[in-house]
Amino acid sequence: MLIDIIAGARPNFIKIAPIVDAIQKRRDQGVAIDFRLVHTGQHYDKKMSGDFFEQLGIPEPHHNLEAGSGTQAEQTGKIMTAYERLLMQQPCDLCIVVGDVTSTMACSIAAKKMNNIAVAHVEGGIRSGDWTMPEEINRVVTDSISDYFYTTSHVANNNLRQAGIAENRICFVGNTMIDTLMKQMPHLRQPEFWDRYRLTAGNYMVMTLHRPANVDRADKLKELIQEVVMGSQQLPVIFPVHPRTAKMLDAAGITYPTLYAVEPMGYLEFNYLVKHAKAVVTDSGGITEETTVMGVPCMTLRDNTERPETCTVGTNELLGTDPAAIAPAFATLFGGRWKKGGIPELWDGHTAERIVDHIVRIYKP
Ligand code: UD1
Ligand code: UDP
Repeated sequence: MLIDIIAGARPNFIKIAPIVDAIQKRRDQGVAIDFRLVHTGQHYDKKMSGDFFEQLGIPEPHHNLEAGSGTQAEQTGKIMTAYERLLMQQPCDLCIVVGDVTSTMACSIAAKKMNNIAVAHVEGGIRSGDWTMPEEINRVVTDSISDYFYTTSHVANNNLRQAGIAENRICFVGNTMIDTLMKQMPHLRQPEFWDRYRLTAGNYMVMTLHRPANVDRADKLKELIQEVVMGSQQLPVIFPVHPRTAKMLDAAGITYPTLYAVEPMGYLEFNYLVKHAKAVVTDSGGITEETTVMGVPCMTLRDNTERPETCTVGTNELLGTDPAAIAPAFATLFGGRWKKGGIPELWDGHTAERIVDHIVRIYKP
């Protein structure tokens, strides 16, 4: 049996690492299961791609589709065309897509249209209800043609049921991003700038921003950053800057003495920083899950989330995108009143094993 594993963007690499591990383990036990790792090339900078393969021990991709950047349609078209070509040369039996990026949707369509190849969506069923975000369209389209859904929450299960998906296609397994976090926790590394910036545990903030609604307009980005810097009471704000955000940051010339803008960080250094932070300010999806598991206060600069359990169970709070919401949240944080939070069900480090066990069961001759 040949499984294609698709990965294109930074969060994908973190989600596929344990799936690759679990398949390799089954192969070593003599199960007739093989995989082909397909990198779409959506993210291509070393700091957004190669470094994650190195740090997480992900093998070299068998194929790189080299799609690169572009408009939504351009990127989708390039990925679909290149993946279809690969499938024509050698089809697979199952195509695993993860998350909600353009690569996820594009490859699921290409596989399904290629003689009805089965598609499994890891992180299926989550919904923000926000149609202004490309990710919501990617989720809904991918789920509408997937055969198997590996879900992170009961909310996701219910969303799928409401969409008419049969119960036997929904597998509640947990979160592969958390598999990676739990595996790597003992290996997290202090970033090289730790001493240079005089960081100590609990005495700095971490911020990441990359959503178009926050970063594609200079005035909006500036207002958000200013509020975070002002709210942080002189503590350093470490800001690993996503390439999308870097362009705007440079153009707008946004600088503050306590704002430390750094390049996108390696996984081990970034999560060391998060683990010891006073709090995190972000618009990332994955980071809200990691802060939940590490019990670090998290403020999300979005109006909605497709991961509600990070708020209902975890340490995450949705502040919205109005900069005026930031100061009151910092008052809660510095007043020692941030909620404590727990860990969502099945986010236990064994999700990928459950996924591969299920695949082996359904494909048994
Ligand atoms: C994409 C995902 C988003 C995810 C994010 C994770 C979609 C629609 N968006 O957003 O859901 O949260 O990845 O980080 O799939 N760029 C570089 N180098 C790179 C990659 C990108 O310079 O290696 C720059 C390019 O100018 C590019 C821009 O960043 O145009 C945006 O990249 P793109 O992959 O289109 O979307 P992201 O904003 O990264
Ligand atoms: N991450 C990282 N270095 C950074 C910023 C993020 O290793 O400088 C990791 C983070 O720990 C998480 C993932 O990247 O595992 C989240 O990716 P991103 O925020 O780009 O995408 P999203 O989850 O919002 O789709």
